[in-house]
Amino acid sequence: MNPLILGIFQYIGPNGTVGSAWQHPRDTSADFTKLSHWTALAKKFEDARFDFLFLADSYGFPALDGELLPAAVREGRGIPHGDPMPLISAVAAVTENLGFIVTTSTTVEPPAANARRFATLDHFTDGRIGWNIVTGSSGATAAALMGKELIAHDLRYDMADDYLDVNLTLWEGSWQDDALVRDKASGVYADPEKVHIVHHEGPYFRTDGILNLPPSPQRTPLLVQAGASGRGRDFAGRNAEAVFVGGGEPETVARTIAGVRASAVAAGRPADAIKIVVGALFITAPTSEEAWAKHAEMLAMSTPEGAAAIYAGNTGVDLLALDPDKPIAQSRTELGQSNLERYLGRDGKPAPLVRDILENFRRTGINGSVFVGSPTEVVDQVEEFVRQTGADGFLIQPHLTPETYDDFIELLLPELRRRGLARSEYEGATLRERLFPDGTAHLPKTHRGHAFRAGRA
Ligand SMILES: Cc1cc2nc3c(=O)[nH]c(=O)nc-3n(C[C@H](O)[C@H](O)[C@H](O)COP(=O)(O)O)c2cc1C
Repeated sequence: MNPLILGIFQYIGPNGTVGSAWQHPRDTSADFTKLSHWTALAKKFEDARFDFLFLADSYGFPALDGELLPAAVREGRGIPHGDPMPLISAVAAVTENLGFIVTTSTTVEPPAANARRFATLDHFTDGRIGWNIVTGSSGATAAALMGKELIAHDLRYDMADDYLDVNLTLWEGSWQDDALVRDKASGVYADPEKVHIVHHEGPYFRTDGILNLPPSPQRTPLLVQAGASGRGRDFAGRNAEAVFVGGGEPETVARTIAGVRASAVAAGRPADAIKIVVGALFITAPTSEEAWAKHAEMLAMSTPEGAAAIYAGNTGVDLLALDPDKPIAQSRTELGQSNLERYLGRDGKPAPLVRDILENFRRTGINGSVFVGSPTEVVDQVEEFVRQTGADGFLIQPHLTPETYDDFIELLLPELRRRGLARSEYEGATLRERLFPDGTAHLPKTHRGHAFRAGRA
């Protein structure tokens, strides 16, 4: 088994991914508005040799029919939620190797603005940036905030293809590799023959201009995707270099992973062109009993109302308004489809009842996979999970910040390393080379974005 890719999940807000942990005496996430909170965490993650810090984001917030969901406000769940972009320069400045993956939605800003911001960050981070491309969870509230209509689910993905094309055109097409001269003696900054206005005219977006920056170390940031609906999987197959999968039972995760790899192959790419990173929560302690006690403590801070608010904001389905003894009747949403599909019943199994769905979501949130136990027990579970699913790594989701990570570092990493499942040193100068040690800093030839490169023969 190869060493695992290990990333950290965070968002700019006062909670983890299950319940409202900020209220715990040892939790520091309510300091999310302080830069020092983040720089200390980033240094910790780099010292432990984690591959990257992922900052989730959404302009959406938990509301239904134009009304805020009171539990979300009361518990600090989904409200508040800050912008991760301004944080990246600060955490990059205190680290040298840690990668950063940031979410932006293809439905909010114009694509050229997104391209310029990521290119600037690729320079500032020396090639350590990745883009989690989402079409936007909680899309209804995000659209209303921006004064727009909600775009239908599948159309959002069609538009995302076009949005990405604009970005790729700008990143790859504006400057040839040797366009930057920067010769003080001759006074030539760049070769005018090698900087090009690019043109894109797609069904939804157009651009005629340049990326107004010389090529950055990766040119295109590492392309990541996290939507597991059928349409999301197709998008990932064509475009993603890494996919974040919401976990769950190993059989479910194995099926999702096989689906993503099949989409890559259908798009003419190798099955292993995409690294699959599973969102998971690890609760460990020196003994099994202590670990389960921590888990119980976490669940005590997770209310059905808070869970229902997050679920409603994400899918538009209010579990508290449905008959608890029936399955969810609706099978389609124009909001996030993955968290609806997750509970529709699969493989001939009956669909779960609303009361069980609410309890499952209360316990797991968007984590899905939860590993609890002593270090040996957890690493045994991890090894078995990876064997069963073919996952390439994990996105470590927080319960208590920073305690979840401290436990991982002190208790799990030594055991993972002993079994060859975690690296002890960084390899690869850029984030892309970190995930693909046999590749280069730039998009590989098998990625369709490669063809957008200026000056390509
Ligand atoms: C680990 C993980 C991280 C995610 N991060 C984000 C995020 O930062 N922003 C967001 O809008 N959605 C995020 N999502 C949700 C998916 O992208 C969501 O399913 C998608 O936005 C809706 O697409 P779908 O209908 O294809 O599921 C994440 C999902 C997972 C599993």
